[in-house]
Amino acid sequence: QLSSLRGLKSGTLRLACVTTAKYFIPHLLGPFCEHYPGIDIQFTIANRQQIIDRLEQGLDDFYVFSHLPEGLDLDVIEFMSNDLVAIAEADHPLASQPSVSLEELCQQDFLIREHGSGTRYAIEGFFNEQQCTPNIKMTIASNEAIIHSVLSRLGVSILSAHTLAFGEVYGVKTLNVEGLPIQSKWSFSWTKAESLSPIAQVFLSYVETEGREVMKKAVQF
Ligand code: PGA
Repeated sequence: QLSSLRGLKSGTLRLACVTTAKYFIPHLLGPFCEHYPGIDIQFTIANRQQIIDRLEQGLDDFYVFSHLPEGLDLDVIEFMSNDLVAIAEADHPLASQPSVSLEELCQQDFLIREHGSGTRYAIEGFFNEQQCTPNIKMTIASNEAIIHSVLSRLGVSILSAHTLAFGEVYGVKTLNVEGLPIQSKWSFSWTKAESLSPIAQVFLSYVETEGREVMKKAVQF
């Protein structure tokens, strides 16, 4: 079937991803589009709640989460780990400490993503479990704006290591905080009840084979 679709002239693959997936999903799409030049991609990026809303409306073929929604009947393939790490500006006092306690982290001004964000959901779960309360100073609806705010010494944060795209961002230091990273797994999911289009099936085969290696290479840092 893969080879019969190689000559496909037209068709659209609809992908919806949470914001932290935008750092590696494009690398997955490059080789795919080279194999299948007739396939167009509609690539939507939004926070977790907005992607759940799209899933409930059946707007896309695949939904990429690192924290799957509960109570929905989904087919899922997991493909890679997602580590959430603490970050501070390189000259921040905590940045030179070999290790940082959770208490010390909670004493800092903390920058956090907006309600509806999967990153926030994971951070809240972590602090609840640890029975610690971060000192939230700013809510910021963008990974990039959080990084710039950290650089501007507005506070520290916890973000997916993928946001540091391909290694350390100049001037940002990953802190060695007890209990971190928060670990989860990326997954492609789709609604069980809806049958996959032929194009979506081709994409799924690609993700399960060559795509896995492509993604691993894209995030090696
Ligand atoms: P977010 O999702 O972009 O909504 O923070 C990231 C995640 O679920 O890990």
